[in-house]
Amino acid sequence: MTEPVRLRRLLPGPGTLTAAEALEGIALGDHAPADRPYLVLNMVSSVDGAATIGERTEPMSDRADRQLFHQLRAQVDAVMVGAGTVRAERYGRLVRDAGRRQQRVDRGLAADPLAVVVSASLDLSPELPLLADPHSRVVVVTAGDAELDGCAADVSYLRPPDGRGLDLAGALQRLRAEYGVRSVLCEGGPRLNASLLPAGLVDELFWSVAPKLAGSAGSLTIVDRAPLPAAVDLDLIWLLESDGQLFARYAVRY
Ligand SMILES: NC(=O)c1ccc[n+]([C@@H]2O[C@H](COP(=O)([O-])OP(=O)(O)OC[C@H]3O[C@@H](n4cnc5c(N)ncnc54)[C@H](OP(=O)(O)O)[C@@H]3O)[C@@H](O)[C@H]2O)c1
Repeated sequence: MTEPVRLRRLLPGPGTLTAAEALEGIALGDHAPADRPYLVLNMVSSVDGAATIGERTEPMSDRADRQLFHQLRAQVDAVMVGAGTVRAERYGRLVRDAGRRQQRVDRGLAADPLAVVVSASLDLSPELPLLADPHSRVVVVTAGDAELDGCAADVSYLRPPDGRGLDLAGALQRLRAEYGVRSVLCEGGPRLNASLLPAGLVDELFWSVAPKLAGSAGSLTIVDRAPLPAAVDLDLIWLLESDGQLFARYAVRY
């Protein structure tokens, strides 16, 4: 693990802390309602709201952002992501650091979180690093009938019953009932977020704001390609800062 960055806490009270200290004891699963997992969204954007620069998030992510991101992955039963993000960001094994996997085990979690990939098309190459990784367990949420061939990862499918359309609320309920998932970290992308939010399935937003203006280099925002029927209100829980990058944690108010 790299040297931990010390973040400045601006809210609720002043102080300094590492990403690990910020998230220690967060126990997200303890907040889960009875019938689905507790779901937190983690997204990064520029100050002018771009979710990508040159179709990637990497230009907006600094060392502190990566440490918070990896610490969040170390806290949850499952990491959920849309197929567009898996393809664009070439997702691989979710927790690569052996020390972080041990921390998960010490917290009573599986060494590797379950990867949950949402896809309508099932256009997912077995050569994507996540699917080519023999340590990864992947649940594909889809209404499609096809199977992914040639994956080294352990892949299973959550399909809606009776040929119905894809239903994220139903899929989350089944993740809880059939896979024992009590906490989910959703890492986007914008299109998946635009389905989860109107369905009332997002409990918290972790939002990292890079001190940059993307202008026309950024095309998407963190919730995109489908309008929300109404604005979603957020309550600020904390605000951290490191090197000009801001890290806000919000509760979603429905
Ligand atoms: N700023 C950030 O924090 C952040 C986070 C994540 C991603 N990104 C960026 O966002 C871009 C990708 O954007 P995106 O909106 O296309 O990503 P996305 O939401 O990850 O992927 C969209 C795809 O996911 C599947 N999907 C999502 N919601 C679905 C639903 N309700 N029903 C059925 N399928 C669903 C579909 O897969 P199929 O196409 O397979 O049918 C859809 O085409 C990338 O450039 C990535 O770098 C930014």
